[in-house]
Amino acid sequence: MLELKNITKTFGSVVANDDVSIFVKKGTIHAIVGENGAGKSTIMRIAYGFYKADSGTIEYGGKPVAINNPHDAIALGIGMVHQHFMLVDTMTVGENIILGSEGGNQASINWGKANREIRALSEELRLNIDPYAMVEDLSVGAQQRVELLKALYRKAEFLILDEPTAVLSPQEVEDFFGILRRMREQGKTIVIITHKLEEVLAISDDVTVMRDGKVVGRVKTADTNAKELARMIVGRDVLLRVDKTAANPRNAVLAVESISVTGKHGLAVDGISLNVRAGEIVGIAGIEGNGQTELIEAIAGLTPIQTGSIKFETKEISNLSVRKRIELGIAHVPEDRHRRGLLLSSDLAENSILGVHYRAPVANGGFLNQTVIDTKVRGIIENFDVRPPDPTLAAKSLSGGNQQKLIIGREFDINPKLLLVSQPTRGVDIGAIEFIHRKLIGLRDAGSAVLLVSAELEEVTALADRLLVIREGKIVGEVDPRTTSVEAIGLMMTGGN
Ligand SMILES: Nc1ncnc2c1ncn2[C@@H]1O[C@H](COP(=O)(O)OP(=O)(O)O)[C@@H](O)[C@H]1O
Ligand SMILES: [Mg+2]
Repeated sequence: MLELKNITKTFGSVVANDDVSIFVKKGTIHAIVGENGAGKSTIMRIAYGFYKADSGTIEYGGKPVAINNPHDAIALGIGMVHQHFMLVDTMTVGENIILGSEGGNQASINWGKANREIRALSEELRLNIDPYAMVEDLSVGAQQRVELLKALYRKAEFLILDEPTAVLSPQEVEDFFGILRRMREQGKTIVIITHKLEEVLAISDDVTVMRDGKVVGRVKTADTNAKELARMIVGRDVLLRVDKTAANPRNAVLAVESISVTGKHGLAVDGISLNVRAGEIVGIAGIEGNGQTELIEAIAGLTPIQTGSIKFETKEISNLSVRKRIELGIAHVPEDRHRRGLLLSSDLAENSILGVHYRAPVANGGFLNQTVIDTKVRGIIENFDVRPPDPTLAAKSLSGGNQQKLIIGREFDINPKLLLVSQPTRGVDIGAIEFIHRKLIGLRDAGSAVLLVSAELEEVTALADRLLVIREGKIVGEVDPRTTSVEAIGLMMTGGN
């Protein structure tokens, strides 16, 4: 169906694609995997006409084609859903889809007919999208389905999905895969870029593996497994299981008692009590949006509590500022690393001192100590394997995985007594996941208390020594992650539905 032949693409001195050849068969789901920076997005953006290759050719449907821009791709029936959605929040689903494709004179659009078509498409694939809904009222999962509808409305037969599951909850991923399978049954062809090996194994027919801008292998999904794929991706053996000894918990570091927190849509945390001891990882499992974000933000001091108390080493801290809490030894790796974790336009050095920039040894008498900062940032880069290792780069130029390693490195650098960590490996590639997991276990073993929130059930059960399940703002149970099945935990998360 689509054949990319000997494609090379450079950006300045970076060879993003080095003689890449990929063949995708009609009516299949083809996964492209590889670490951050391997060149996956670049090759697919070339297929969509978003970038122009320096050299190489493209064949589509058995014929050589020139794809010079996305219009050419769309005319051929190629659609692409980008990692960051491109919808206008303040318009309806229908307006987003139609205005994106009709162009020209708005007055000539038959809105009723177009919206009926969108509804029919949505029903055909069970996307559950109302063309008259406002985009801003939709969940991330629904917005993603709108992006799919947009491509389908433009008659795409070949769909490129760039990390579509990075922002979805596990339940949404399952629903989404159901949709992809129905599309395949209709004869559509799909390319999916993902970091997650279990997703590759669950959804794809064939896999192409990229590393450092090159294709390093192609296998039939049925003939491979996670271990082999991981080795191809990283170029060495990767430990997919978390390796840890039993916890050796000591004194309680954090004691949360009956707190309630108001969120965007009313009561988000509804009388939660929990404690975390030195030397243990307490995990919180739950479907996203059940109060875990607000819970962590309340403990970090970013959101006030309405009732209850938060004690840190027996001291009440619920009225303390974020800064005071950091000074006590509370570190926070936030779920939204762009909004809360980093100053994207600032360099790595500046990002490495966030939270401690005002006090000794970083600052003295109002002056920043560049020598201290330099030592600090280089230490973080080295210990946390941040690539590229250049303190003067802007944070935004790093891949998601390297941004995350920088944040985690910075938070570890204050030697926290308590680490609050949300979605530590979201959007992070497998080499970095293994690394981050080891670091978290290492922090626990060094005697810190860790409170971990993750939407990845596998991750939270593997890392946690004790596991709390959250639903609708309440802790609905505590389980031993070593002896409780993922299914049983899933059932608690959903309330048995
Ligand atoms: N527009 C661009 N300008 C400069 N460098 C880029 C651009 N897009 C990608 N790169 C570089 O090309 C390489 C491959 O990137 P990309 O295709 O995005 O990788 P992946 O999608 O596998 O994470 C990386 O080193 C990246 O920094
Ligand atoms: Mg990419």
